[in-house]
Amino acid sequence: MQSLIQLRHVSKVYGVGNTEVRALWNVDLTINAGEYCAIMGPSGSGKSTAMNLIGCLDRPTAGEYYLDGENVAELDDNALTHIRNRKIGFVFQQFHLLPQLSALENVMLPMVYAGVPTRERRDRAAAALTRVKLADRIDNKPTQLSGGQQQRVVIARAIVNQPLLVLADEPTGALDSHTTQDVLGIFAELNATGITVVMVTHEPDVARKTRRIVWFRDGEVVDANLTPNDVGSLMATA
Ligand SMILES: Nc1ncnc2c1ncn2[C@@H]1O[C@H](COP(=O)(O)OP(=O)(O)OP(=O)(O)O)[C@@H](O)[C@H]1O
Ligand SMILES: [Mg+2]
Repeated sequence: MQSLIQLRHVSKVYGVGNTEVRALWNVDLTINAGEYCAIMGPSGSGKSTAMNLIGCLDRPTAGEYYLDGENVAELDDNALTHIRNRKIGFVFQQFHLLPQLSALENVMLPMVYAGVPTRERRDRAAAALTRVKLADRIDNKPTQLSGGQQQRVVIARAIVNQPLLVLADEPTGALDSHTTQDVLGIFAELNATGITVVMVTHEPDVARKTRRIVWFRDGEVVDANLTPNDVGSLMATA
């Protein structure tokens, strides 16, 4: 199988001297195209830092990162922006929906940056919203949608540029169990179409729906190849 994500000896250090924090330390991690992975571990263990690096939102302090065969640690900001737009869909809390725009307009935005013609933008955004079962809500503003519906709009926005990779940082953290199942159903479907999905979660039941679990502790990967069956015992020792 082809590796889509390859972190080699990656460290991320924040601050200097007394305030230095080793958010990630000498992390080696390979995720192949088509995988469905959960990233787990205690609070502060480096999960979001790793997702930011994997998503090309930040650069490592040391080490190499190959995404789809390309050493992205060496690229400048413009090139990183281009890669993010072309290859990655984000379901991150810091990328809010824009409140003044409708669901449709929010989902159209990534295609504006990608230079897709207006008509095609509308069609593809509507199709993405249909895929997350929101065809009847496309003209609603975010405040006119439930939390779970907003999260589905975020997922539609993440998939509209047909990314290779969807990254989600605690996508179900604020959702009830019913909506959590909806969101997980969408991720499983996306993965079945060949999209690689990597998701941070604190919830064992959510992690069990993936096929591989990577466990972080104190900025290091302590186990990169756990199975959904291992989750119970992990939570007991965490
Ligand atoms: N911008 C920053 N500046 C300084 N320290 C940071 C910064 N971002 C994260 N850290 C520190 O790096 C470490 C890892 O943080 P990170 O956000 O990756 O943890 P996490 O595993 O996602 O935790 P949580 O489960 O609480 O979301 C923590 O000690 C955190 O305080
Ligand atoms: Mg986090």
